[in-house]
Amino acid sequence: MEHSGTLESLAQELRVFRPLPQLVIEANVNPQELESFRRQAANDPQGYWEEAADELDWYKKWDQVLDESNAPFYRWFPGARCNIVYNALDRHIETANKNKLALIWEGEPGDSRKYTYYELYREVNRFANALRTLGVGKGDRVIIYMPPLPEAVIAMLATAKIGAIHSLVFAGFSAKALRGRIRDVKAKLVITADGFYRNGQIIRLKQTVDEALVGACADCVDSMVVVHRAKVDTDMLDGRDFWYDDLVRRERPESPTEVMDANDTLFLLHTSGTTGAPKIVSHCHGGYMVGVHRTLNHVFDIKPTDIFWCTADLGWVTGHSAVLYGPLLAGTTTLLYEGHPNYPQADRMWHIVSKYGVTIFYTAPTLIRMLMRFGPQYPRQHDLSTLRLLGSVGEPIGPETWLWFYRHIGRGECPLLDTWWQTETGMFMISPLPISLLKPGSVTKPLPGVEVDIVDREGNSVPPGVGGLLVITKPWPAMMTGYFNDTGGDKGDETSGDKSGEKGVEGERFREAFSRFPGKYLAGDVAKRDEDGYLWIQGRADDVLNIAGHRLGTAEMENAFRSHPAVAEAAIIGVPDKIKGEAAKAFIILIQDAQPSDDLILDLKHHMRKELGPVAVIKSIEFRTTLPRTRSGKILRRVLKAEELGEAPGDLSMLDDTE
Ligand code: WT7
Repeated sequence: MEHSGTLESLAQELRVFRPLPQLVIEANVNPQELESFRRQAANDPQGYWEEAADELDWYKKWDQVLDESNAPFYRWFPGARCNIVYNALDRHIETANKNKLALIWEGEPGDSRKYTYYELYREVNRFANALRTLGVGKGDRVIIYMPPLPEAVIAMLATAKIGAIHSLVFAGFSAKALRGRIRDVKAKLVITADGFYRNGQIIRLKQTVDEALVGACADCVDSMVVVHRAKVDTDMLDGRDFWYDDLVRRERPESPTEVMDANDTLFLLHTSGTTGAPKIVSHCHGGYMVGVHRTLNHVFDIKPTDIFWCTADLGWVTGHSAVLYGPLLAGTTTLLYEGHPNYPQADRMWHIVSKYGVTIFYTAPTLIRMLMRFGPQYPRQHDLSTLRLLGSVGEPIGPETWLWFYRHIGRGECPLLDTWWQTETGMFMISPLPISLLKPGSVTKPLPGVEVDIVDREGNSVPPGVGGLLVITKPWPAMMTGYFNDTGGDKGDETSGDKSGEKGVEGERFREAFSRFPGKYLAGDVAKRDEDGYLWIQGRADDVLNIAGHRLGTAEMENAFRSHPAVAEAAIIGVPDKIKGEAAKAFIILIQDAQPSDDLILDLKHHMRKELGPVAVIKSIEFRTTLPRTRSGKILRRVLKAEELGEAPGDLSMLDDTE
């Protein structure tokens, strides 16, 4: 790739990087085809997505491509019958993919396991049978609280295969957060591991689940499956807890795939919103697989020989769409790594790239920023010549990190594809293709079939160069089908500590996402467009933080603080962090009897870890006696933030979207 314009140019908009000619020749989608896809999708979006759906296998095709009669509750492919696992796994057994690697796994200590499509298929069948034996069936919820292990992949696929619904909880969440999530979805089964390796240590996991399974939530959970990974002493409760190996050993490697309605739920994922209780996003089999399949193929230009490595944890949507379902739908090889990126030293990622010949490396800016610190000598020690595409996701990457990644990892030759999307969108929405002209820090343009706009508070499109709210103006197939148990208001679960528990209208929270500007989905991000129509994401517009690419609600963290006996009131703001992008700063009002001290600060940080888990990083704590509030009593976080950053509060008016 070469750049037109000078590298030293200060105006980032001036730097444009072009793909190497050879790459354009070899791309699955060339510039003319991309243009024609865009034209087709603009003129006939349903026809465009119907063609995308025709690339997959269905037990029965749809009566209609899109049912808009109950908007914003759009239904894609109503009447169709399918199962995503048939497309991700079963159908590959009939083709040359049968003996191709589906999954490469590397453990932190350096152990490794590989599964061909056929081997993975048989493992999934065994575990699917085991799940049925345990009494799990269509529509039941299964919580998967696991480190990145092959069994986590197998568990997700087996659950979906039998028509049950998986709901992953990132292993960085605490017992208390896990308990809330188990209860929210009324899980029948929890799948976990005895422990796993992280940064040279063994993290015990099963005991966290035991801790979570006390009280009310023990009622819904019938059984627990435990994968023997860390080989640590583990208490097993007779009749409730089962070793994974004992279960699958007894089962046959064939198992029928459940025929699902296209709009039946595939998975649930908790995500942070602006109110106290996390939202539980629901995705279905049909539209989700169509959207993920088409966009992953377009953006990552999948070739038969690719080794695809997305570094996300399976517990986030990126893990669902870009580690598991997307790559397997495409019939490519996906890579999963158990451990810490710096273990035993700062070249582990590059060691893995060269060891397995990774061709596509998709990661988050926070990881690149962390590795940048150690200098380019670490990647230089390894042969990274197999890489042909790089990807970024989760937060704005910024030109500096973009250029480092591009030069030191991508040799200045691999297109860097910055993909914008969300848990709610399910699939990539705004992203370049390998053939696109790139500007460092821009997510470029919406993919074909995706229509977005940037609007002001009244919903009017803003001109180029002006920041505004990002909205999606047309339905897309992988859009969430709703929020689970969406009765509006806050449900007042234990993770949030919010006890308001108001009952509202069915589907109210979902409707909210489309209600501010009727018919348009409000993404919650601030963005601007430049003169070329390129999009630049500037960050969240609401009270949601993005810490190391993980989404956390300020309300969730404030509630966690409020449950500490010394805390009377808490307000959280995001502050810039060199590595994590953003970190949380807490403003705390203590109860009358409590005194500020360093010990108390430590204790408060520890409390947060216990309440929400290590994902909720608190950078600093400041004690106050009052907090700025609106007349109705709402804390004005934007005033705190402006103070902290030394900005005029007015500058941030666009950011404050909650009043
Ligand atoms: C939020 C969604 C699905 C990706 C993992 C995060 C931010 C995501 C980008 C990007 C700038 C990005 C947005 C978005 N975000 N991708 N390429 N550039 N910001 O999924 O947890 O649902 O968070 O992540 O703020 O709204 P998520």
